[in-house]
Amino acid sequence: MEVVIYPDAERVARHGAGLVEAMLKVKPGAVFGFATGRTPIALYRRLVERHRAGAVSFARTTSFNLDEYLGIPADSPQSYRSFMDREFFDYVDIERENTHLPACAEGENPQRVGPAYEEKIRAAGGIDLQILGIGHNGHIGFNEPSSSLASRTRVKTLTRRTLEDNSRLFGPGEFQPRLAITMGIATIMEARHILLLATGENKAGAVARMVEGPVSAMCPASVLQLHECVTVLVDEPAAAGLQYREYYDLANRENQALIERFGAFYADD
Ligand code: GLP
Repeated sequence: MEVVIYPDAERVARHGAGLVEAMLKVKPGAVFGFATGRTPIALYRRLVERHRAGAVSFARTTSFNLDEYLGIPADSPQSYRSFMDREFFDYVDIERENTHLPACAEGENPQRVGPAYEEKIRAAGGIDLQILGIGHNGHIGFNEPSSSLASRTRVKTLTRRTLEDNSRLFGPGEFQPRLAITMGIATIMEARHILLLATGENKAGAVARMVEGPVSAMCPASVLQLHECVTVLVDEPAAAGLQYREYYDLANRENQALIERFGAFYADD
């Protein structure tokens, strides 16, 4: 894992956006995996700025979001579809029909959504760059602790803790779904490059368990240790629990020196 620690969340977003931009240069028709939550919002804002400046275009890209609530319509303000429109899609040139979320239409069998979503990802050629946040309990997407590390896109029941964390998005008396459809852990692991962002002190425990803890279904993000190309971007407060922090800084300085000398390296080159 490449762990890069920045003094603040803004720098994390800038580096993340830079990686998206670099991917678009190499592959203008890239397939992105997008995430919701508070964390990636700054990254999306930065990409919108870069798009407005004429530096990036999403016109040829396809996207697959990690997850979607089950039981609320897509046009409800709390759906992840609405979140993506509001925070990103409405301001860039991505074709709406090329943006996908694992949503279940009214009356559709939710158990059929996962396999169909997997098929769509395969048909698009797989995900080139998957953006991830991390839950306080170490979840990725909505793969809660105890999720099979071999899981595929499916219905998941959310933990009490996740419901509490996300309750801020629902008004008093508003229906908050207890179920969601999420890409599985094995689905996420098939992305060619994974970019995980974590900011704020309440993520410090999850980040330490993900990077330095044992690989365990009880911290789903720890499975990323088994992926060959993961970049973890964190701010200082989220890095507070890392024991090898000094080493990550040293490794980054060495990597930077290599990039300055030889340029960035992509496996596709
Ligand atoms: C949600 C999403 C995850 C996200 C996580 C953290 O439950 N399903 O994809 O990474 O929570 O969210 P935040 O960035 O708001 O802390």
